[in-house]
Amino acid sequence: MTVLDSALDLTALPRHIAVIMDGNGRWASARGLPRHDGHIAGADSVEDVIQSCGDLGIEYLTLYAFSSENWKRPAVEVDAIMALLAHFLAEKAETLIRDNIRLRVIGNLERIPPETRELLEDTISLTAGNTRLTLIVALGYGAREEIVEATRNLMEKARMGELAPADLDQETFARHLFTVGIPDPDLLIRTSGECRISNFLLWQISYTEIVISEVLWPDFRREHLEAAIVEYQHRHRRYGGL
Ligand code: FPP
Repeated sequence: MTVLDSALDLTALPRHIAVIMDGNGRWASARGLPRHDGHIAGADSVEDVIQSCGDLGIEYLTLYAFSSENWKRPAVEVDAIMALLAHFLAEKAETLIRDNIRLRVIGNLERIPPETRELLEDTISLTAGNTRLTLIVALGYGAREEIVEATRNLMEKARMGELAPADLDQETFARHLFTVGIPDPDLLIRTSGECRISNFLLWQISYTEIVISEVLWPDFRREHLEAAIVEYQHRHRRYGGL
């Protein structure tokens, strides 16, 4: 790649970037540290990537912070991630407000500790009118659960006579997902070299460009984000056409 090839084109940015933040545990193990130190270090990458997306003018950023399957991890690790989230929200709510960033959450929050949930709800309502970047945090999120939940709601509407099965189309279905009103991701980045989707946004990534970064999440910074965007900009999106 020449220097020119590798330059970021600010006129062709993805509107929506989604990130599977992977590699915190390996980053910690490589340093002889407990896994939760990897998550703590990962929170610095979260901050850097939010800031970078805001600076670049990206409209939507979705971060996969905690999957529905992550509840199976040891309680000490789950508790550490929940505490970290609460700490992050308490510390950064002011920054989100200052930087005109709107917070949204997708996922099932039932098992999220009440104090974390309260902080989330407060920050969501405090930032609801912000317009620069929408930060979507996927928490207790699983795409299959999301699809089943949408189907259940649609079946209920059909049962009540509010929707005829013949009238169900993709737009109506999408309006019943957690991501209602959010455009599908243009770019999905997964860090740490793993090539899996891990039950993330299965419906929404039908035509998303996927970039795998070898960098472990705690080491991921603006330069790696920009490299992923440059790779995206070299793709030819065809949406099934020519
Ligand atoms: C995956 O690494 C990472 C997670 C399951 C947690 C991600 C959470 C954070 C970065 C905390 C901060 C988040 C916010 C939004 C403030 P892994 O543990 O699966 O790593 P491994 O594959 O190396 O074991």
